[in-house]
Amino acid sequence: MESAPATHARPFGAGVAAAVVIAAALATAACGSRSSAKHLIGFSQCNLGEPWRVAMNADVAARAKDFPDLEIVFADAQQDNAKQVADVENFLRQRVDLLMISPNEAKPLTPVVERAFKAGIPVIVIDRGVEGDSFTTFIGADNYEIGRQAGAHIAEILKGQGAIVEIRGLPGSPPAVDRSRGMHDAIAPHPGLQIIHSPVANWLREEAMAQMEMALAAHPRIDLVYAHNDPMAVGAYLAAKAKGREREMKFVGIDALPGLDGGRQAVADGKLDATFVYPTGGREAVELAARILEGEQVPHRIVLQTEKITRGSAGGSR
Ligand code: FRU
Repeated sequence: MESAPATHARPFGAGVAAAVVIAAALATAACGSRSSAKHLIGFSQCNLGEPWRVAMNADVAARAKDFPDLEIVFADAQQDNAKQVADVENFLRQRVDLLMISPNEAKPLTPVVERAFKAGIPVIVIDRGVEGDSFTTFIGADNYEIGRQAGAHIAEILKGQGAIVEIRGLPGSPPAVDRSRGMHDAIAPHPGLQIIHSPVANWLREEAMAQMEMALAAHPRIDLVYAHNDPMAVGAYLAAKAKGREREMKFVGIDALPGLDGGRQAVADGKLDATFVYPTGGREAVELAARILEGEQVPHRIVLQTEKITRGSAGGSR
């Protein structure tokens, strides 16, 4: 298959757009002659269509400014596994010194990550894992634990009784599996809590809206929607609002991004009952990359912390 150049970024939020355009220019330059930076890093992002991904790239770009020895080139796989494999292959051809990757789905990305690692290139896997052990370090929050905390919160606010719609992320991405398992385990001791509908919306707000319309049509009473991320929780809220049913139920999400369109604001506005901080890990990944490239040993797994955000703690952006 013709490999797509790892330099295309779709248009998105202004500041980050500028950063990625610069990075894209650097990436183009890197194909021919490398800049004066000591180390070239390829960062393969699974998509830039979601605000959380844009925030991660912004965190990477911001922290990289503190490390003049590092040059980071960005690739956007646009939620396409084949494109992400091609992006990584392109980085390998560019002879990057280190690969950072946030994989779209685990299974399809495992072989190329393994190939890079076995070729001696240090690999930092961020947020969504791959299968097996062929990478230098994984950095991300504990999604099972986040799901568990969400389930405990749900059991508490519903007082152990109620009909729940669970809107799931992309099934091949480990956070969707772990956030589901954690939540199911936490509500298991409460037989009065029933999951009545659990559609997949692939992490996307629009797909969650469409799925929620079907859930609303099928179920005359819904007490709570648990969505694996905030964009899907807000999509479900909007679908319920369009039917005048948003007050019938509560909405719980995950990510807690700051900013006017972020989950924190949605909690502050009373659209979501709660969300859980899912740190991007972008800044920490750059710091790890610098350490690895200086020859330091780093832990094989680094767990970032979460935090429950409710109306009392949301703050808001206004
Ligand atoms: C962005 C996103 C986040 C979610 C994470 C899980 O692509 O969907 O909203 O928390 O991925 O990997």
